[in-house]
Amino acid sequence: MFLPQAIIRQKRNGETLSAEELRFFVEGVTTQSIPDYQVSAMLMAIYFQGMSDAELANWADAMLHSGEVLDLSSIDRPKVDKHSTGGVGDKISLPLAPAVAACGVAVPMVSGRGLGHTGGTLDKLESIPGFSVNLDVAQFTKLVDTLGLCLIGQTAEIAPADKRLYALRDVTATVESVPLIASSIMSKKLAEGIDALVLDCKVGHGAFMKTMDEARELASAIQVIGKAAGKPVTAVITDMNAPIGTMIGNALEVAESIAVLHGGGPSDTRELTVVLGGEMLLAAGVETDEAAARVRIENVLDNGAAAQCFSKLIEAQGGDPRVVDSPDTILPKAANKTDILATKSGTVQFVAGRDMGVAGLWLGAGRRAAADSIDPSVGIEVRANVGDSVSAGDVLVTVHHNDQGLSEATKLIESAYTISPDANEVATSRILEVLR
Ligand code: URA
Repeated sequence: MFLPQAIIRQKRNGETLSAEELRFFVEGVTTQSIPDYQVSAMLMAIYFQGMSDAELANWADAMLHSGEVLDLSSIDRPKVDKHSTGGVGDKISLPLAPAVAACGVAVPMVSGRGLGHTGGTLDKLESIPGFSVNLDVAQFTKLVDTLGLCLIGQTAEIAPADKRLYALRDVTATVESVPLIASSIMSKKLAEGIDALVLDCKVGHGAFMKTMDEARELASAIQVIGKAAGKPVTAVITDMNAPIGTMIGNALEVAESIAVLHGGGPSDTRELTVVLGGEMLLAAGVETDEAAARVRIENVLDNGAAAQCFSKLIEAQGGDPRVVDSPDTILPKAANKTDILATKSGTVQFVAGRDMGVAGLWLGAGRRAAADSIDPSVGIEVRANVGDSVSAGDVLVTVHHNDQGLSEATKLIESAYTISPDANEVATSRILEVLR
């Protein structure tokens, strides 16, 4: 038996906690035997003192075992998932999961909802009429076995310690802590029964990590936890300044994902799908060469196999599979479209991702308060991107909206654009670093 206040004092003083002390504390979080004020004090102590690699691995392991850990060992295919640290217009899971499954690797994906200015895979999937993300563990396992993929939301049984810790972090200014973010993500991902993970660690204006150093620190903490659990993590650090692709908003992003699944779509969206998918095939051990792995993903996007896999998944999860062939007729549409025009001529130097994400929130594409409901049809269509030349009066974006948020969104979108007469060197790739 330990005393919570003694553990908090040790952490506050920068001493190292043992596996037993950390397990005792996390158990107290899960069973509620440690009250909110002591858990909050511990979070603040971790925020300021950080954690050693051993402490991080033990804390994350205790969080993982606070709930159910799925056992997918009866499925003989390798099982690999991808996790993104969150971005704007980040719809990559939608084309990626079916593409990887079409290459013979199982993808058991437990996803999240939008967080802050960033979108969430579950909200996007729910814009497909009928699609259910609330499957139980038995249904989830069956679909991963038979189809090679399933996309659901976090169940109450997965990592309950994280649920309580996350809620307390949110109201005690302790969200932005690398060990707390890394352990929160990994306690949920390792519970999926995966063999390996590919992390899309986003950096830039539209991401939670603003600098390369911060992104590398988070990637490394996640790799430490993965290694200790015997689940290798490949971290891909990717540029999250301007929004990904051209669509922000749930149904709009589903339509853009379907374009990628048919071999088209914006080049950055396809690139992220191909590179992250290639890394998943390498992590699964079904390919050993980076170029060959990427070509294999390109092939299933171009030959219809990935689109077919998505269609089967939608049908199995209760959605209308006709969306894959006619997204325009099946997906919900906003009642109004309003263009925002350039007020001067020049080259687009920067599109501030975070502002574009917040503009989407005002329209109803995300939640401003936890209880808000989502409007799946609204969003932003980016018509002029970084590097494009525009003349005053050209359309920068088309806003798809119903009855809320147009004036707030317009102000944010106008301020998100930097246009100047200078030429702009445009990066041709969003991939900044791959850490295997
Ligand atoms: N996503 C999570 O699941 N947890 C965090 O702490 C941050 C992002």
